[in-house]
Amino acid sequence: MTAQYGAEVASVYDSLIAPAMPLDEEIARLRPHLEGNRVLEVGVGTGRVATAAAPIAESLVGVDNSAPMLDAFRAKGVPANVELLEADFLRPLPFGAEFATAYSTMGSLACVRTRDELVTALSNIRAVLRPGGVLLFEYYSTAAYRPLVEAGTITVPTPHHGGTSTFTTTLDAASVLTMHTRVDAEPAPPVAFSEHILFIERDEVEACLEKAGFGAAQFYPAEGMQPYDWYHVRSEEW
Ligand SMILES: C[S@@+](CC[C@H](N)C(=O)[O-])C[C@H]1O[C@@H](n2cnc3c(N)ncnc32)[C@H](O)[C@@H]1O
Repeated sequence: MTAQYGAEVASVYDSLIAPAMPLDEEIARLRPHLEGNRVLEVGVGTGRVATAAAPIAESLVGVDNSAPMLDAFRAKGVPANVELLEADFLRPLPFGAEFATAYSTMGSLACVRTRDELVTALSNIRAVLRPGGVLLFEYYSTAAYRPLVEAGTITVPTPHHGGTSTFTTTLDAASVLTMHTRVDAEPAPPVAFSEHILFIERDEVEACLEKAGFGAAQFYPAEGMQPYDWYHVRSEEW
């Protein structure tokens, strides 16, 4: 599958998108599962989370299928115990069952077109977890995003930056949510990009987890203005 995240997104990710996300809360949630462990981040992007997670982990592998996002991470400097791999999580990952923890933030695993693709992605992650290993991930909160779908197009001030961001959100009959983002921050030219994600309810995410061989999920709904729910799951014994 062609990578969704191209050069346009990578060019503004760290300046416009990353600062709006609560890194301290994400690290606090992940910390007990990072400490001293060999860890996999799925959809590592520009290393927003991996850079803070790596000093806590024994080692960290970051997988992403977007060369521009990985290039942006490399340009900032990759911690010594981090290995980056350009790979698609819809294909088997080239590792043994070696990770104690896998995590995925900001809805990276929702970058799929169907429920079957989500099961495939989850199965590929489970295959590289040690027996009893854990997967923690953020998935799009339907409660947070439904109002955006109903609004159609909204323009808001870009947090921590100035200028405005305009979001146009649509949802099709196959539960694929498309969000077109246009960032205007004069005098820079506008930057525009689209994301497509599988927009499904908690029970459907949990059904995909079960099909992929994970045990019951602990579920932490998005709080306040947060756009993602958290799922914590353990791989069943093989
Ligand atoms: C919203 S960004 C999140 C980046 C990072 N995890 C963070 O929290 O800042 C989603 C990331 O998932 C990656 N991604 C999407 N589909 C993917 C796939 N099929 N295989 C690997 N990575 C993928 C994108 O390239 C992008 O870097």
